[in-house]
Amino acid sequence: MKNVLITGGAGFIGSNFVRYLLRNEPDLQIINLDALTYAGNLENLSDLPNIERYTFIQGDICDFSFVKQTLEKYQIDTVIHFAAESHVDRSIVGPASFIQTNIVGTFNVLQAAYNTWSKSENKNNFRFHHISTDEVFGSLFSTDPAFTEITPYDPRSPYSASKAASDHLVRAYYHTYGLPITITNCSNNYGPYQFPEKLIPLIILNALQGKHLPVYGDGKQVRDWLYVEDHCEAIHLVLKKGKLGETYNIGGENQPTNIEIVNMICKFLDELKPASSPYASLIEHVPDRPGHDRRYAMNIDKIKNELGWSPKHTLANGLRETVEWYLSNIDWVNLITSQNNYQNWLNKNYQNREEIK
Ligand code: NAD
Ligand code: DAU
Repeated sequence: MKNVLITGGAGFIGSNFVRYLLRNEPDLQIINLDALTYAGNLENLSDLPNIERYTFIQGDICDFSFVKQTLEKYQIDTVIHFAAESHVDRSIVGPASFIQTNIVGTFNVLQAAYNTWSKSENKNNFRFHHISTDEVFGSLFSTDPAFTEITPYDPRSPYSASKAASDHLVRAYYHTYGLPITITNCSNNYGPYQFPEKLIPLIILNALQGKHLPVYGDGKQVRDWLYVEDHCEAIHLVLKKGKLGETYNIGGENQPTNIEIVNMICKFLDELKPASSPYASLIEHVPDRPGHDRRYAMNIDKIKNELGWSPKHTLANGLRETVEWYLSNIDWVNLITSQNNYQNWLNKNYQNREEIK
C-alpha cells in the first residue's frame, strides 16, 4: 500500500478508518473521496493525525470519469470502498439512491480500478477492498446457526439487496478479469461519529433531550454489535494478510435484543448524566419496520483462525465508551443535528409510522 483511495471516508466507519490508518501506517498517502451526502461530514475528520499525508476530494462515485481521473491522478494502488447509502429505513422510504450509489457507484469504482490495475506495471501490488454487511445473508430464526462466508445470499430490504448486488459485482471482477479483490461482511457497528439516525446514537440523543425512545415492534430483534475501532483493525488485517478473492466475516460475537441495548444505554446515562426519572421511562414501542429482519449473527471463525483477529471491546465496554463520547462531544452533536435535514428525516420516519408500508 502506498497511495490509498478511501471512498466514503467522511461517513461514520470511513472517518474512523481514515484516522486509524493515518495512525497505524506511517508511509502511505490517503485520498478520501466522498460526495458529502447528508451522512458525510468533514467535522468527522477534524482531529486527524499526520494530516500532511491526507487529501480530501469531494465527488460522486456515480460519476465514472471523475472516479477514473482521481485514480490516475493520485496513482492509486489500493482502493478501500466504503461509500454507500447505508440506512435501511431510508432505503424503504426512497430506494432509488441506494440503487445508484451502491450498485452503479460500486460498478464505477470497480471499472476505474480495473482500468488502473490493467495498465499498471506492478499488478501484484494492487488491491480493491470492498466493505459489505451481514445483511446480505437475510434473517435468522432464534435457533439457526450464525452466518458463515458460504451462507447463501438472501437480502430482504432495498439496502441489503443493493449491497448484495455490489458484492456480486466485486466477485465478478475477480473471477472474470482477475482484479485482486477482498471483501469483508461486517455486523452492526457503533461508536464515535455515527450519524444519529441509527439506533444507538438516536437513543442516546433522544434520551438526553427527554424525547421518546422509539423501539420498533416488540424490540426482540437481535443484532451482532461491533465497536467501530475493532472493525477498522479487522479491515487493516485483511488488507495486509487477507487472501485474494476471499470474503471474511467480521462481528462482535454478541446477541442482544434491541430492547436490551436500549436499556443498557439508559442505565449508562442514569449513571453518567442522571435525570429526574430513569431514562428507561422514555421507551416507547412504535410500529415495526416493514420487512424487519429478526436476527443477525456472525460466525467469525475464518478471520479468527486464518488471520488471528477477534474483537477487543466487549459490548458493555464499547457501549459505555460510546455514551461517554456523545456526552463529551456535544458541539459535534449540535452541528450534525442542526444540518443535513436531520429533523426532516426524524419527522418523516417517526411521525405517522403506520403509514410507512
Ligand atoms: P455512512 O452512511 O455513515 O457513510 C457513508 C459515506 O458515503 C458518507 O460519507 C457519504 O457522504 C458517502 N457517500 C454516499 N454516497 C456517495 C456517493 N454517491 N459518492 C461518494 N460518496 C458517497 O455509512 P457507514 O455506516 O459508515 O457505512 C460505511 C460502509 O460500511 C457502507 O458500505 C455500509 O454498507 C458498510 N457497513 C456498515 C455497517 C454499519 O453498521 N454502519 C455495518 C456493516 C457494513
Ligand atoms: O448489520 C449491519 C447493518 O447494520 C449495516 O449494514 C447498516 O448500514 C447499518 O445501518 C445497520 O443496519 P440496522 O438496520 O441493523 O441498524 P439500525 O441502527 O438502523 O437498527 C438497529 C436495530 O434497531 C434494527 O433492528 C432496527 C431497530 N431500530 C432502529 C431505529 C433507528 C429501532 O427499534 N428503533 C429505531 O428508531
